[in-house]
Amino acid sequence: MPRGRPAFFILVIAVGLYFTFKYSQPQHVNPPLAARTPTSALKESSAQEAPEVPTTQHKDQFTRRIVAVGDLHGDLPNALKVLQMSGVISESGNWTGNVDFFVQTGDIIDRGDDTLQLYELMERLRVEAKAAGGTVLSNLGNHEFMNAIGDWRYVYQSEIKTFGSVADRQKMLTTGWVGRAWRQNYTLATRLPLHTSLGDPNTDYDPATSSLDLSHAAIAFMHGGLSPTYEDMTPFPSRINKIGHSLLARLQDQTQPPPHPPSPYPGLPHDTPPEERELYGTNGPLWYRGLALDEEADVCAVIDEILNKIGCRRVILGHTPDFEHVNSRCGGKVIIIDTGISHAYGGALSALSITYTLTPSGGQSEDAPWIEKEIVKAIYASHNDTLAINERTVYTRFRD
Ligand SMILES: *[C@@H]1O[C@H](CO)[C@@H](O)[C@H](O)[C@H]1NC(C)=O
Ligand SMILES: *[C@@H]1O[C@H](CO)[C@@H](O)[C@H](O)[C@H]1NC(C)=O
Ligand SMILES: *[C@@H]1O[C@H](CO)[C@@H](O)[C@H](O)[C@H]1NC(C)=O
Repeated sequence: MPRGRPAFFILVIAVGLYFTFKYSQPQHVNPPLAARTPTSALKESSAQEAPEVPTTQHKDQFTRRIVAVGDLHGDLPNALKVLQMSGVISESGNWTGNVDFFVQTGDIIDRGDDTLQLYELMERLRVEAKAAGGTVLSNLGNHEFMNAIGDWRYVYQSEIKTFGSVADRQKMLTTGWVGRAWRQNYTLATRLPLHTSLGDPNTDYDPATSSLDLSHAAIAFMHGGLSPTYEDMTPFPSRINKIGHSLLARLQDQTQPPPHPPSPYPGLPHDTPPEERELYGTNGPLWYRGLALDEEADVCAVIDEILNKIGCRRVILGHTPDFEHVNSRCGGKVIIIDTGISHAYGGALSALSITYTLTPSGGQSEDAPWIEKEIVKAIYASHNDTLAINERTVYTRFRD
């Protein structure tokens, strides 16, 4: 990722806001950022021209803690265990507030009986997190889509009983609260900025900002992976999410086909457009396994180009289990967090923890740098493993 050029993007925002609020004369108000090229933004904010920003603000350390959990497959007790051991929830099952973001990478459904309780847990935590200033980010996996399609090969009969009947289950996954939650509160891909100056979760990466120090200070999450030949990668993540939500609506809105088995595999509806077929294909973000299974050297040869396109430092995936540990590849640029948490697999209980800090270095002066540090750990029931520690100096002027 390009770096080394002093980045004043944040200063420009701060100065812009300062003058927007302080003066009403239009000549003092900076033009909207979107209307500028990065070069003009840099020029306009150079030390000589930029009006002085009040220096009363103290430079504090900035910390952001993220926990991600992979495939849960119908096992509530094990889901509660991983959320507890990673500090997301307390002994009593409530949001602790010790984590800023909890991300789940899909496949909550199938292979177990606790589907409804797991989705209920996610929606409760979403509300509790919000009230405490935290955020739950949920993604759909290939198994959520399989169920929406009517591909019920991994659905236990005992699980159908927890909904009532087949028809009750179909209703719940379409117009019921589970189906509505998928539509409203689940994405297919998440881009999570590590710093507030990059915007809210799922802000698209803007390639025009690529020269800024923190342009790629974000993490991508999705269920399967990104193939280097997948055509609808950008703008990331909105393109994937738009196609995915269109497919989900198409599946939920159709007359529900009788589930397979015993009925034949219904497949995607006839009017499904090519980009939605691609999304659900073996090369699409829900099913792709190449980043997890290809030779590591081959993955490392393509991952930088992918990360550059999507404006992220790492991509965190579920879908392809390793029953012993979280699988970190290419120095933590690809991390696969599906460890077969559900008793259906009897794998390892695990979670991923990312702690991001920006610490003022060299005093309180405007131009003093920051030490940026990202610590990535796998959390297990008995121990934790450090997967990556990345540290560097950045010269961005923060005013958050
Ligand atoms: C804790 O969770 C329980 C449900 O398990 C809920 O009834 C209660 O309101 C929660 N408490 C808080 C403080 O959110
Ligand atoms: C989606 O999440 C919000 C909280 O962010 C919650 O109020 C709402 O009920 C959820 N929607 C569904 C359908 O569960
Ligand atoms: C592993 O990390 C978790 C979450 O940060 C922490 O609560 C726990 O004490 C750590 N466990 C060990 C053995 O260090």
